[in-house]
Amino acid sequence: MNFSLPAVQFDSILLRKYDQPLPRYTSYPPATQLTPEFDEVDFRAAIAVGNYKKTPLSLYCHIPFCETVCYFCGCNTVITQRKEIAEPYLDYTISHIRQMADLIDYNRPVNQMHWGGGTPNYLSLGQVERLWTNINEHFNFEPNAEVSIEVNPRSLNRDYIFFLKELGFNRISFGIQDFNPQVQEAVNRIQPIAMLFKAMDWIREAGFESVNVDLIYGLPFQTLHTFRDTIYKTIKLNPDRIAVFNFAYVPWLKPVQRRIPQEALPPASEKLDILQMAIEELTENGYQFIGMDHFAKPNDELAIAQREGQLHRNFQGYTTKPESDLIGFGITSISMLHDVYVQNHKRLKDFYHAVENRALPIERGVSLTQDDIIRRTVIMELMCQFQLSKDDLEAKYHLSFDGDFDEYFASERGELKKLEADGLIHIFPNRIQVTPAGKLLIRNIAAVFDAYLRRKIMANFSRSI
Ligand SMILES: C[S@@+](CC[C@H](N)C(=O)[O-])C[C@H]1O[C@@H](n2cnc3c(N)ncnc32)[C@H](O)[C@@H]1O
Ligand code: SF4
Repeated sequence: MNFSLPAVQFDSILLRKYDQPLPRYTSYPPATQLTPEFDEVDFRAAIAVGNYKKTPLSLYCHIPFCETVCYFCGCNTVITQRKEIAEPYLDYTISHIRQMADLIDYNRPVNQMHWGGGTPNYLSLGQVERLWTNINEHFNFEPNAEVSIEVNPRSLNRDYIFFLKELGFNRISFGIQDFNPQVQEAVNRIQPIAMLFKAMDWIREAGFESVNVDLIYGLPFQTLHTFRDTIYKTIKLNPDRIAVFNFAYVPWLKPVQRRIPQEALPPASEKLDILQMAIEELTENGYQFIGMDHFAKPNDELAIAQREGQLHRNFQGYTTKPESDLIGFGITSISMLHDVYVQNHKRLKDFYHAVENRALPIERGVSLTQDDIIRRTVIMELMCQFQLSKDDLEAKYHLSFDGDFDEYFASERGELKKLEADGLIHIFPNRIQVTPAGKLLIRNIAAVFDAYLRRKIMANFSRSI
């Protein structure tokens, strides 16, 4: 199937009207639905079903450590310069990998692996090799598997990058956030432009297949003018993918963000101007809008997958790999199987204790109902393809037993009509199409199908623009 994708359209009135706290829908139900009451028997059963079906695997490995803290950071990190802390972490994570490998059929192909953090390149080369070897001993990688890693450019050198490539990593991502020195200083993350261009040169020389960089808008001292310069420099750097994240300012959850001078944060109107400029500059300079905060060159596999209707989304964000079971190693990692999600312990102590006692280090989880699975498909289709075929959904889930799509989602009809009246979607008899203006509000459109949302106080989510 080939989908023609109209360009994205910036509409500040709609963006203001629909600005509200919403989940990012890297999963449905969202991670907030995971509870400690979860019974791990369900997790083991879901692994067994995947073994029986030989469902492909996607692996995630979390390295939580960073040497210094960036004041904007919302990730799950452990900040320390005591590098020896990584040794026991690797010991326990490798035990956890073995524990999972005992449950998972070796013949299931691994088509994707990602190391994230924190900062995976906090590890020494010896530690990287040790972790890599252990994972490879226990899992069966496809020859063309996507193997990616997040790195911090401040602790990189040429040897490190070449080592990663030789080991088998073929995709890489690094954080820039902003090129402006005043912004960098205010967020405690100084990385001169020469350092970033040098890192990119090494990555290209080593032959990585795809390079992603992260930017954040909404940081202190950013203006339309300064961020335009950051966008120009990023285009010059020429990555295959660019993420332009909206700064999630949640000081009540991340106290380190209190170190940012609040009065230096750009006002909402300036943030909207910055977003508009970033979208226009990136799309005019050859990047395709993938969705949410992501842009990719038209020949990057994410962009190709989107044009071919093959884009998917999981806890790691957009992906080309459909229907894999995601298995998370290390603290805070989430595993996402067909009908069960679990999250590992967040604290090192709890994670170590569980692994030591040969228990699965699960902190919380959720088992999905059939209704969750149907709604997940709706939300993922909208987020990845910007359209939804009612016919396909009816056929896939035999909705005719419960009435057709319109009957199944009768209580959502009023909300959908409002979105249509505002020009975010078009509703046709057999499909829903997101308009170019609706693309930037895709979380609001997806949220109509979120059965949990209405029952919940949404205080802890970041804003949708
Ligand atoms: C785990 S970090 C990337 C790897 C490495 N630690 C680094 O910083 O270069 C993932 C990305 O999350 C984004 N990020 C972190 N905190 C954020 C926040 N509060 N709001 C928006 N984006 C954030 C940053 O763009 C960052 O590059
Ligand atoms: S942004 Fe990256 S380097 Fe900075 S504190 Fe967060 S995880 Fe660590």
